[in-house]
Amino acid sequence: MTTSTNQFLKPLTTGVNSTGNLEIGGCDLVELAEKYGTPLYVLDEETIRAVCRDYKKAFAKYPKIHMMYASKALCVSAVTKILDNEGFGFDTVSAGEIYTVYKAGVDMSHVLFNGNNKSFDELSLALELGVGRISVDNFFELALLNEIAQSKNKTVDILLRITPGIECHTHEYIQTGHLDSKFGFDLTQIDEAVELILNEYKNLKIHGLHAHIGSQIFETSIYPDEIEILVKEIARLDKKFGLKLDEINLGGGIGVKYTDFDNPPSIYDIGNLAVEKLFESVEKYGIDFPTVFLEPGRSIISTAGVTLYTVGSSKQVPHGKKYVAVDGGMADNPRPGMYQAMYSAEIVNKKEGDVPCETVTIAGRYCESGDILIPEIDLPQLCEGDILCVYNTGAYNYSMASNYNKVTKPAMVLVNNSQSDIIINRETLDDLISKEVIPNRLTK
Ligand SMILES: Cc1ncc(COP(=O)(O)O)c(C=O)c1O
Repeated sequence: MTTSTNQFLKPLTTGVNSTGNLEIGGCDLVELAEKYGTPLYVLDEETIRAVCRDYKKAFAKYPKIHMMYASKALCVSAVTKILDNEGFGFDTVSAGEIYTVYKAGVDMSHVLFNGNNKSFDELSLALELGVGRISVDNFFELALLNEIAQSKNKTVDILLRITPGIECHTHEYIQTGHLDSKFGFDLTQIDEAVELILNEYKNLKIHGLHAHIGSQIFETSIYPDEIEILVKEIARLDKKFGLKLDEINLGGGIGVKYTDFDNPPSIYDIGNLAVEKLFESVEKYGIDFPTVFLEPGRSIISTAGVTLYTVGSSKQVPHGKKYVAVDGGMADNPRPGMYQAMYSAEIVNKKEGDVPCETVTIAGRYCESGDILIPEIDLPQLCEGDILCVYNTGAYNYSMASNYNKVTKPAMVLVNNSQSDIIINRETLDDLISKEVIPNRLTK
């Protein structure tokens, strides 16, 4: 089995330098914390590029594969540049994500727009900027998109998002491919949608089918199961309607290693199984090789990211837990609160053996009892001012961050070859009130 980057807990360049401190991308994490402040998101460029290479190599045996990145995991201009440079297209889900990739200079024909309730304005923007494919989610959107396309005298290239009825074993909030899902057309609704497209919605041109099963998935069978269903559907639609569809989009979903208890599959194993299944099912159902799109998010960006926090207060509950609080928490990383997600961490400026270890609960600084980053972890005894590094925070942390308690969002730096560059500036107090207006009548 070839190991892939998503199977690592830490960025590939993580190490201990000559001063005894942890470093990533050749940058001392204590120095990064001093220079940029904490909380600080740190992204390792080498790890992002390594996982891109894993995906490209793992699926290389299939002649028509297109890699895309699900921007929702982390939609930031500099990250978009790296993925564009690696030859990835982009799966976007809002006007904000479309605008970010557009401003980063991406060829918009490599962009897909997806989502269960795209607005009139968002669909109009997608058409104006020349987004390559729109994955239509439901009957309402088919009618709306056709109307917008008609008014602009355009033909829009679409996929149909379907729910293939595959359940995966992940948190129920991140399952999407099972039958009772808010996303996509049920298998029994595909024919009606196709009839509408062929007979009524003359400004829509359908190219293929799109599905996504869920996220943080460890089962290797997800893509083969999906391929069987999608290829079978394409063959069936050809027989029934004479419709030649030549694209299938398998979504994202491959898991990552948040703690030592997680054992995500190798991207190479998934690639081998998927490619084998593609050849087999194309032959079985007698269709031409479709172009296949993948759109992973988490597995592209999660392992590359860590968050640095500064340790502040601590509290020993008599006969109970020891809480150690850091200067961030649920607003920069909502996942523990939302999904009971688990994380691993290390102290940047101390290693095991320097001081005795203790079992602690890492608490956030927000006014919620549930703001616990790590419920139980063994770490060298912590003191105020120590720097904590939480691993695998590249995906769905900054992208889900909020200003709860009116706290500024952290900065993000990209590290590579001993260089660190700011890619998101830390918010200021003025940023926090910049959109607020006091009506004149209240100032009199
Ligand atoms: C349609 C679609 N594609 C891709 C993704 C990315 O999934 P992941 O980040 O698990 O790879 C998602 C995530 O929810 C999604 O809904």
